[in-house]
Amino acid sequence: MFFKPKSIVGIDIGSSSVKAVELSGTPGSYKLTRFGYAPLPPEAIVQGAFMNAPAISNAIREACDAGKISATDVSTSISGHAVIVKRITLPVQSKEELEETIRWEAEQYVPFDINEVNVDHQVLVESNAEGQMDVLLVAAKKDLIDDYTSVLTDAGLNLAVMDIDAFAVGNMYAHNNDPSDAETVALIDIGASVINISVMNGSIPVFTRDVTSGGNQYTEEIQKALNVGFEEAERIKCGGRADEVSMDVVPQEVEEAMREVSETLVGEVQRSLEFYRATTSNNAIQKVVLCGGSARVPGLDRIFQEKIDVPVEIANPFARIAVPADTEANDNFQQLGAALSVAVGLGMRRAVES
Ligand SMILES: Nc1ncnc2c1ncn2[C@@H]1O[C@H](COP(=O)(O)OP(=O)(O)OP(=O)(O)O)[C@@H](O)[C@H]1O
Ligand SMILES: [Mg+2]
Repeated sequence: MFFKPKSIVGIDIGSSSVKAVELSGTPGSYKLTRFGYAPLPPEAIVQGAFMNAPAISNAIREACDAGKISATDVSTSISGHAVIVKRITLPVQSKEELEETIRWEAEQYVPFDINEVNVDHQVLVESNAEGQMDVLLVAAKKDLIDDYTSVLTDAGLNLAVMDIDAFAVGNMYAHNNDPSDAETVALIDIGASVINISVMNGSIPVFTRDVTSGGNQYTEEIQKALNVGFEEAERIKCGGRADEVSMDVVPQEVEEAMREVSETLVGEVQRSLEFYRATTSNNAIQKVVLCGGSARVPGLDRIFQEKIDVPVEIANPFARIAVPADTEANDNFQQLGAALSVAVGLGMRRAVES
């Protein structure tokens, strides 16, 4: 008898849109079978908080319908101040002992009441030369997880795997690039309202940090510069022509405003990477990989390159994933590209969990 693993759909609930990705196959031979996308109204998620739950579950439903997704088990991910990720070193111990220790350690590192968080862990190194083990401690506020559970339930879905945004991006990157243990790469996911930074040593995440900034910053500056609304500014930002404004302020003024935002964003990321440098004994960063929709801002990669002085590239989540021409609703996924980094990483959880 053949065992057919139950399908899982990776759903990235971003503040600007919901992306759903379903993969088939096994690591090394993944195939994209389904893809769905639905935009979210601008105020539905503010600073990570679900302000309009019905709009979010509608968008989830819409994305699944657009991709003709029938799987009901979902892997999704969270980030932000309600999520604590900490790499800790402990004496080598048994699985059972570790369960106990982790809870105790969590009480030290988590700035919330321990009863208000879910705690999880992953062993990164079983035993190093000093007889110690490296463990990744992850704690997330229960009410944040409850918010995700309830929008998914309202969309007729079931939360099967809760991941962390930065880990999902890390999985996406590791699968597509097969990094050696000697490689240290900074993955920078620049979305609409948050930048998730993670430094990977080979395929192990060694540092994560979130910065509350992103693509909306560009849109707001264009709104101010041209005195236009959000939608119009978004369109101009993404390369559309500014039909309703006099041409003498476009494109120079837009270009100038965008360049300034890029400089600020890169400066913020740079500060986080300096913090990484100052606080770890891990290797220096050898490469920066930009993910997220805002990776497409013209010239942003060049500014990263100038300021951080390492090679910079834009992620291709489908570098080693087959994309059959008949994939449902695959019309606009090619241009989303790096914006699907999280969703692809989440889609890969199916093989791990089945
Ligand atoms: N061609 C483009 N040029 C500039 N910006 C773009 C382009 N395409 C998309 N964006 C911007 O990328 C952002 C959306 O990216 P993404 O889908 O990664 O964000 P999100 O996951 O919804 O948000 P977040 O993760 O911040 O909550 C928006 O700000 C959008 O305007
Ligand atoms: Mg995002």
